[in-house]
Amino acid sequence: MSELLYIEASPRKKRSSSILVAHTFLDAYSLSHPDSRIETCDLWSKDLPRFDGDVIDAKYAIMHGQSQSEAQRKSWRAVEQMISDFKKANLYLFSIPMWNFGIPYPLKHYFDIIVQPSYTFSFSPENGYQGLVTGKPAVVIYSRGGAYGAGSGGEALDFQKTYMETILKFIGFTEIKSIVIEPTLVSEELKEKSIQSAKEEVIQLAKIL
Ligand SMILES: Cc1cc2nc3c(=O)[nH]c(=O)nc-3n(C[C@H](O)[C@H](O)[C@H](O)COP(=O)(O)O)c2cc1C
Repeated sequence: MSELLYIEASPRKKRSSSILVAHTFLDAYSLSHPDSRIETCDLWSKDLPRFDGDVIDAKYAIMHGQSQSEAQRKSWRAVEQMISDFKKANLYLFSIPMWNFGIPYPLKHYFDIIVQPSYTFSFSPENGYQGLVTGKPAVVIYSRGGAYGAGSGGEALDFQKTYMETILKFIGFTEIKSIVIEPTLVSEELKEKSIQSAKEEVIQLAKIL
């Protein structure tokens, strides 16, 4: 059975624009793919393991081809579990508000856990970096208070979409569909217009993915 992993990064829940559009996608996707399983990862209720001490030593041991101590191995298991939960999906959906021009910190924390050498990317002097999460599409819904699209004048401040595209491509994604909701804080009318057009876009996407 194919699995869609939905990763939710806004804590605003019922008031969230990115979640509203993500739910429109999920509803449409469930209709056109009734046999597909949807797994939700709400980053605000998930207990993300701290990435410090033994976990970092375990990561460096892997990078340098060294063996791990028992304490390192133990703390690394939680990382491996999260990576395995991530990699088993066939399709990914992210809903992400812009925070201080970038992504909310639990999502960065999540990537710090799952982006690991020999699990989600590899490196060799001959081939350089290679992503290991390949052949699966990702849909990314962005919501921003201001405007950062082409011609807005705010393009250079967008570290939200540019970060997401960089990190997803780094771990192997090549098919990334972006939906942008903006501006959400300038006026109610502009927000509603952008949400409406984002909903139409995701309904179409859900049919072709
Ligand atoms: C902590 C925080 C930081 C924010 N930083 C920015 C920002 O840098 N640029 C921006 O345009 N909007 C910013 N906003 C506004 C949100 O991006 C905007 O309200 C967005 O629509 C929220 O999406 P959501 O409703 O899905 O949570 C910020 C909001 C919060 C709570």
